[in-house]
Amino acid sequence: MSQPVDPTTTPAWARLNALNEAMEPDLRGWFAADPSRSKSFTFSAADLYVDLSKNLINADVLTALVDLANQVGLVERRDAMFAGEHINVTEDRAVLHTALRAPEGSSLVVDGTDVIPEVHQVLAKVYAFADKVRSGEWVGVTGKPITTVVNIGIGGSDLGPVMVYEALQPYVKPGLQARFVSNIDPTDVAEKTKDLDPESTLFIVASKTFTTLETLTNARLARAWLLDKLRESGAIEAGEDAAGAAVAKHFVAVSTALDKVAAFGIDPENAFGFWDWVGGRYSVDSAIGTSVAVAIGPANFADFLAGFHAIDRHFAETELASNVPALMGLLNVWYVNFFKAGSHAVLPYSQFLHRFPAYLQQLTMESNGKSVRYDGSPVTTETGEVFWGEPGTNGQHAFYQLIHQGTQMIPCDFIGVANPAHPLVDGDNDVHELFLANFFAQTAALAFGKTADEVRAEGTPEAIVPARVFPGNRPTTSIMVPELSPGVVGELIALYEHITFTEGVVWGIDSFDQWGVELGKQLALQIAPAVSGDDEALGKQDSSTQSLITYYRSQRK
Ligand code: F6P
Repeated sequence: MSQPVDPTTTPAWARLNALNEAMEPDLRGWFAADPSRSKSFTFSAADLYVDLSKNLINADVLTALVDLANQVGLVERRDAMFAGEHINVTEDRAVLHTALRAPEGSSLVVDGTDVIPEVHQVLAKVYAFADKVRSGEWVGVTGKPITTVVNIGIGGSDLGPVMVYEALQPYVKPGLQARFVSNIDPTDVAEKTKDLDPESTLFIVASKTFTTLETLTNARLARAWLLDKLRESGAIEAGEDAAGAAVAKHFVAVSTALDKVAAFGIDPENAFGFWDWVGGRYSVDSAIGTSVAVAIGPANFADFLAGFHAIDRHFAETELASNVPALMGLLNVWYVNFFKAGSHAVLPYSQFLHRFPAYLQQLTMESNGKSVRYDGSPVTTETGEVFWGEPGTNGQHAFYQLIHQGTQMIPCDFIGVANPAHPLVDGDNDVHELFLANFFAQTAALAFGKTADEVRAEGTPEAIVPARVFPGNRPTTSIMVPELSPGVVGELIALYEHITFTEGVVWGIDSFDQWGVELGKQLALQIAPAVSGDDEALGKQDSSTQSLITYYRSQRK
């Protein structure tokens, strides 16, 4: 494994520094001076039409960013990832989410095994299961077909499935719904099950490791709920045999640890496996997406995977100068390291994508929120910006004020869909067009702003002119797609996976481990006895933690 290149020592970095220092952002002027600016900086990747022209770039900046990518070895790292090398060094693993969407018949030998046939065997098992649930062939313990699947998982075993399920609502089979339980707050499982009929509910316990406290606790709570309700109504008898039969009909699992699935009491026949070379946050296209496959059906799920694959091919095969994920990742580096932007907003103009920013938070921040490089040495520059966002136009009436007029630069990605699922009209107005007009207006306002003279020309009293000035030059990327199909959702996810990868390569970090989540998990287990009344354990805590727990114990009814 090669050593990470310190990006700050490269000639391209020095060039970018110089370009940054010399730059006087002037999107108004740049657009006026160059009528082909939009054309020059617009790219496509599969179905994605990506306009970078409202970013603070010129041809020299893009050239220097591509040089930077070459000088830090992006192409070599990318090829190593696709080839199954162990680029996740701290866990000594290959990183092969791209194999999950490789077509049947292709081949990828990793550590002596061709993984593609295994991927397709699991997919076939997931699809067969999905078909059985959808057709009513899979019935609960009392013979009722399944109408609700409840995915129990957290992090990558939740955020991807719930986001995609929400995004693809028009493709969900009528009469079938999915719900998602993730939080160990008992409210989550209680609220998500309270109106369900246990006889027609099927739980999918999704956990890569099958050790995650939240998921196993919720799975036990769900099992208790199922058995209590079935016994209460007389649907099943008391006793272990009846319980086992009910669990077999109402619980399936997805995990890389099939031994632990069996220990939980789920028949391994009803378990779907995957592999340690799939990171949790990169796993929605593995069996972790079983809830989605059930909801939208195997054919749509296959289209979803094809969308990922189309972007994989684009990322793997397109020269960097027009490689959309690489360029978007490099642009993020430009803003984080040269403009000191600490956050990045993703603003989908699609209600169906309302969970996309939350999904991206894990993908990007668990991947690149690191202070050491993959050889253990400290990073040499800022890494890991905060990703956040809300669907337009809700965000416009909340936080866009800060994006337009605040003191921080917040690069934004706007995502718009040409064809709506619901082409509603309000009088003579096509409401989707009004919606998209907001997208286009916001990106124009952010880029071009409004000068003091323009404000004055509207008759604004001089005293409030400054408050009404929009500085402009606030960078945005516009991503347009024809419609929110399963394939396009796959393309969008793969786009951001590879953006994240590109940033991680520049910074020299292992984007595929997540050691930063471990300490809190360990401490929670140590502190739990103190919360439950163990005074000795309480005495071992710091004074702040002691007083918080004491407050809790005094208030708990
Ligand atoms: O929070 C850390 C993490 O390991 C994530 O990376 C992962 O997606 C999540 O927990 C859930 O893990 P598992 O699928 O093993 O239950």
